[in-house]
Amino acid sequence: MGKIKIGIINVSDRASMGIYEDLPGKEVRKLLNLWLTNEWEEEYKVIPDEQNLLEKAMIDMTDHKDCCLVITTGGTGPAVRDVTPEATIAVCEKLLPGFGEQMRQASLQYVPTAILSRQTSGIRGKTLIVNLPGKPKAIKECLEVVFPAIPYCIDLLEGPFLKTNENEMKIFRPRKS
Ligand code: MTE
Repeated sequence: MGKIKIGIINVSDRASMGIYEDLPGKEVRKLLNLWLTNEWEEEYKVIPDEQNLLEKAMIDMTDHKDCCLVITTGGTGPAVRDVTPEATIAVCEKLLPGFGEQMRQASLQYVPTAILSRQTSGIRGKTLIVNLPGKPKAIKECLEVVFPAIPYCIDLLEGPFLKTNENEMKIFRPRKS
């Protein structure tokens, strides 16, 4: 098996125009480097809140770049330009609503506006796609509560065997019977 590839897509009109630095992308990269002990390679894009561009980027990372996991940041809220969940639902063959449910539930302890995020997750081919909100603080608050289930999900998709530094991120794999 080749290198482990993970896609990071920051969906943001302003970041794509270079108006501000891509802090969400940095945050995801930082967390994955802290948690994962595998060597991994990144496929990275910053794109505006345009559903067709986002769908194209996700399809490229899943079908052509063989990412086992694609993490999007931003565009999950109720604003007129927010279309990340729509693009995710359009490209996925199966949805995993538990991810969004868990992230919103955990996020409510931090902000009442957690319910404004429509973040979801799903599977396209052998790739898990996970939406996160765009604020770096929210990225950590959301990713840390769903990450324990991600390596096993990727096992079930016949992807690479992800391992973590247990002091930073404890994952869960049900014992094989
Ligand atoms: N979740 C957590 N954990 N922390 C937050 O600060 N912000 C909320 C919500 N989820 C937030 C959160 C807010 S204010 C919005 S509008 C939505 O995420 C959508 O964010 P997005 O449009 O950047 O994706």
